[in-house]
Amino acid sequence: MADPQIDYADIQGTILRGYRVDMARHFILSIADPKAAGALIAALVDGTDGMPRITTAARWTVKPECFVNISFTAAGLAALGVTQTQLATFDPAFVRGATAAATASKVGDVGTSDPSQWIGGMSDGNQVHIVLNLWVDENPSVLEKVTARLRAAFAGCMTELSAHDAQALPDNQVHFGYRDSISQPTVIGAPDRKCDIPDHQSPVATGEFLLGYANASSGTYSVQPAELSTNSSYAAFRILEQDVAGFETFLTEYAAKAGIDREMLAAKVCGRWRNGNPLVLAPDAQGTVLPTEDLNDFTYVSDQPAQDDRLGLKCPIGSHLRRNNPRNEKVNGTDSTHHRIVRRAMPYGPAYDPAHPDSNPTPRGLIGYFINASLFNQFEFLTAQWNLLPSFVKSDSMPSDPSAGNAYFNISGQDVFLGVNDPATSSFTLAAPGEKGKNNTVIKGFPRLVITRGGAYCFLPSVTGLRYLATLLSSRS
Ligand code: HEM
Repeated sequence: MADPQIDYADIQGTILRGYRVDMARHFILSIADPKAAGALIAALVDGTDGMPRITTAARWTVKPECFVNISFTAAGLAALGVTQTQLATFDPAFVRGATAAATASKVGDVGTSDPSQWIGGMSDGNQVHIVLNLWVDENPSVLEKVTARLRAAFAGCMTELSAHDAQALPDNQVHFGYRDSISQPTVIGAPDRKCDIPDHQSPVATGEFLLGYANASSGTYSVQPAELSTNSSYAAFRILEQDVAGFETFLTEYAAKAGIDREMLAAKVCGRWRNGNPLVLAPDAQGTVLPTEDLNDFTYVSDQPAQDDRLGLKCPIGSHLRRNNPRNEKVNGTDSTHHRIVRRAMPYGPAYDPAHPDSNPTPRGLIGYFINASLFNQFEFLTAQWNLLPSFVKSDSMPSDPSAGNAYFNISGQDVFLGVNDPATSSFTLAAPGEKGKNNTVIKGFPRLVITRGGAYCFLPSVTGLRYLATLLSSRS
């Protein structure tokens, strides 16, 4: 089947393009005057009235000085005039919203991560209407100049509940010290990503990331009215606070308990060494960084014994990487191509310096969008089924030697990064060959290391959809 022709100029850029910028500011907004808010949306779409223009996925010849995108919660769409009948056609997770009790229990936003504890006005999902994103290259003056223009425009039509800054760390690192942004899906029909790290996995159906195109199950996600459907998408906006000191302590204590090097434990819980090398390709030592071409060139199951890791002996089945993209591993439900997501998150807060630990805990973590055409089947499925459950792995033994072990016994607990890890129940399995996991090392009793501090389930309308929303209420009167 031919790739779909996609009108990039109709699609908000962050869905299909990584902007390669160093700084971001995310505004959490509540609509005060819907008609005036519509006028502001129109000005953002066209870049008029001194507003920065919404960035689309269309190619640019000159890199813009800033990148702007905008998303809406279900409450935000309702405030702009989308009817409840129309909203009922949207993704059920989106309609339920990030702060609903059913969502929170599903994705692990419980205890200290409970939405009632969220910062910046996000605990009341009904008042969060818009997440407006501004990204700039390393240039604080542009960030402040554009922020001032936006804030002047918010006056009278939107209440700024909060603003949240992000700042890239060197070498694309995240706060636990790993290199990030290595694996992203290749979306069929998306702009070429010549500078990106090759994915080496099957390109993913356009409809997994954009409404109105065939998805991996040969269906099409769509909504009513039609203006809001084709070329739109959804995202989970998340503010995830990382306990870096706690993570370093975890590595020291539990590497000693398991009798392995602490950098090896860091690699085992992630699936990549901190320099980005995947454990499957570098199982024994970090080594020098592999060529870019090779960083995603691996699978977990192979007919060639030397390349096979179905038992998780090199890369634990419970590692962050394998839980979030099991590649060709046998899992319950549909395979990993049905649940991939585009990650557009960036670190916030200062880098942690182990030589000078914080005297007071300093908030730092990861903030941004996890983008997909179905929050229900992608973000929520990944989180609830794969990160929080050990039972997603199907029974699978080595065909040549069934006594070598079985994948089913080589996983326990929840994701070390994203799990609701309570010292009373937490566990992580380091697999060793042997029937029923008899030689495995299971580490237990570690705390939760990432806390959700805020979030929203968002709809990223197409440009057509933004124009529709901009005039929806005024067209009715
Ligand atoms: C503070 C929280 C998080 C940290 C520290 C973290 C860290 C990492 C790191 C270091 C990688 C490896 C780099 C790469 O392959 O690009 C990675 C990959 C990945 N993460 Fe996370 N992550 C976090 C949150 C999340 C969330 C919330 C999700 C989605 C539910 C997620 C999904 C993924 C996926 C899909 C991959 C790529 C897996 C692959 O394709 O092999 N991560 N993450």
